[in-house]
Amino acid sequence: MIIAVDGPAASGKGTIARALAKHYKLPYLDTGLLYRAVGLSVQRMGLDPEREADAVAASAFDDSLLEDPALRDDETGLLASVVSAHPLVRAALFQRQRRFAAQPGGAVLDGRDIGTVIAPEADAKLFVKATPNIRAQRRHAELQARGSAISKDRVLADIRARDARDSGRSAAPLAMAADAALLDTSFLSIEASVQRAVALVDARV
Ligand code: C5P
Repeated sequence: MIIAVDGPAASGKGTIARALAKHYKLPYLDTGLLYRAVGLSVQRMGLDPEREADAVAASAFDDSLLEDPALRDDETGLLASVVSAHPLVRAALFQRQRRFAAQPGGAVLDGRDIGTVIAPEADAKLFVKATPNIRAQRRHAELQARGSAISKDRVLADIRARDARDSGRSAAPLAMAADAALLDTSFLSIEASVQRAVALVDARV
């Protein structure tokens, strides 16, 4: 069973995907981490993320970056959304995601293009959304808990910038697959969101 979970930043898709993986006993891949690692790699090599990300895409990145503490920072998310617009970066990460999706027992993947590009054959597809304000509120609380002093307005501005870039790019833009089920988590607790997600997946498999 392949479960594809897509949606914008801080929509709750990661939490839901992890919970689904646990529920169905499937391996889980957060594909955003791969783009974040490419972003960090480009930055640390002193390259321009707008124009020179292809150089890193060709050589792939060092896997130790996947453990880097800076990987989950807000700035790294923005950097990831810049480098991920490059078709060559997406192509370089494609096989790795495909292999993960196609492993014999099945898998859960979350990202922006899992249901549309990486695993269009997925058995269940969820598109998770929430209003920009609520997503900013959640992300802000999360960053504060990790000791960040970033303001809520700044987090909201970052989220809007990321939404615009992820939805507006021509290479695999953030989009809901025609056969995906929509899950709006704006007014749902984590527990209620997960329950709804399990019910949606059960209805599709
Ligand atoms: O999901 P996360 O916020 O970690 O993703 C960081 C960035 O990586 C996104 O804003 C998006 O631009 C990019 N991404 C993508 N395709 C995916 C996962 C992430 O383009 N499948």
